[in-house]
Amino acid sequence: MLFAKTFFSSRAPSAVRMLSAARAGSTWSNVPQGPPETGITEAFKADKFERKINLGVGAYRDDKGKPYVLPSVRAAEERLLMKGLDKEYAGITGVPAFTKAAVELAYGKSSPVLDRIAATQSISGTGALRIGGAFFERFYPHAKAVYLPTPSWANHAAIMKDSKLDVKSYRYYNKETIGLDIDGLLEDIKNVPRSSIFLFHACAHNPTGVDPTPDQWRAISDAVKSGGHFPFFDMAYQGFASGDTDKDAYALRYFIEQGHAVALSQSFAKNMGLYGERVGAFSLLAESEEEKKRLDSQIKILVRPLYSNPPVNGARIASEILNDPTLNKQWLVEVKGMADRIISMRAALKTNLEEIGSKHDWSHITSQIGMFAYTGLKPEQVERLAKEFSVYGTRDGRISVAGITSDNVKYLAESIHKVTA
Ligand SMILES: Cc1ncc(COP(=O)(O)O)c(C=O)c1O
Repeated sequence: MLFAKTFFSSRAPSAVRMLSAARAGSTWSNVPQGPPETGITEAFKADKFERKINLGVGAYRDDKGKPYVLPSVRAAEERLLMKGLDKEYAGITGVPAFTKAAVELAYGKSSPVLDRIAATQSISGTGALRIGGAFFERFYPHAKAVYLPTPSWANHAAIMKDSKLDVKSYRYYNKETIGLDIDGLLEDIKNVPRSSIFLFHACAHNPTGVDPTPDQWRAISDAVKSGGHFPFFDMAYQGFASGDTDKDAYALRYFIEQGHAVALSQSFAKNMGLYGERVGAFSLLAESEEEKKRLDSQIKILVRPLYSNPPVNGARIASEILNDPTLNKQWLVEVKGMADRIISMRAALKTNLEEIGSKHDWSHITSQIGMFAYTGLKPEQVERLAKEFSVYGTRDGRISVAGITSDNVKYLAESIHKVTA
């Protein structure tokens, strides 16, 4: 405003006229206004109530509700500083020591397929999914339709659509049971055209927190195989779900054991708390080492015009943690610590609800896994929670369990009880 005032007053009227004429015929006059963002953060910030709770954030918080930088990350940063590394470009596929360790973390250090994994560092999980989308769009030899679970992380559809893939959905969540719709899921896998692409959340399904059991994964693998489909795993929460990085990689490793070719997106945002550092990896399992080389070469050709090469700092931190045995051990304890806090907050919320006298069955809160809980609350109840109790979650009833603390869980349970009684 101040700029406009100074600008206009210091120029002749003709300059003002020219500027308005240019505005009327703007090149961008056809650009429509996008929808507003969910507004939870804004509403939460504006709320003056001191016991307000933000359950909309997609990032881990400690028991005081504060962002958490893992001590292993701090230690890795100190080591890197001591090394006095330069800031030269990484290669197109990133920091090799990071990518190698990331692949080993996902597929298993002793996996027999490690020599056949074509991989690149990516701009966190989102970037990995986008590279995957672009790779499928360019090279997948069958109909380019990708099936996403209903519901899924909201960005999945946008990423795949921007990759020019045909975005479809498969049944996943059953509202009635607040659990997995395994029959619907299997039926959909069986009924879609052969060789479709299926995107699976490897663990800690976002937003529902509902994961298939090992038995159910086995049935899913069989169905995917009979349909000749291609599984694309999104693993954004390895270790963060159960506290055990091997356990959380079960589905991916089982599919490989069963002979599937897979694509994989990895993120180190949650399990290392490296959100803003944007550390991830995309990989494809090739049939032979010769095929791996071809895939690697095309991944490079695809990445180069997208962003040339990825940022080095976060990948160096992750690499330090993954490759140094002492730091690695420390990190595994810290990941488990985050997972355990989430699991204990789930239990505390359920117990508090029961103690207050809620007659609803809240067992899904503890049976679900990962950062999010799908409470089964209806949009009107979520709205009441915000308006009357200053508790903010998303309209679909999803709450971020990371936003629950020992201090606020009782108030949260009372609020939920009041809108559901
Ligand atoms: C299911 C899922 N996939 C991928 C991501 C990617 O996140 P990022 O790009 O921060 O790694 C997220 C983040 O919330 C997610 O929940």
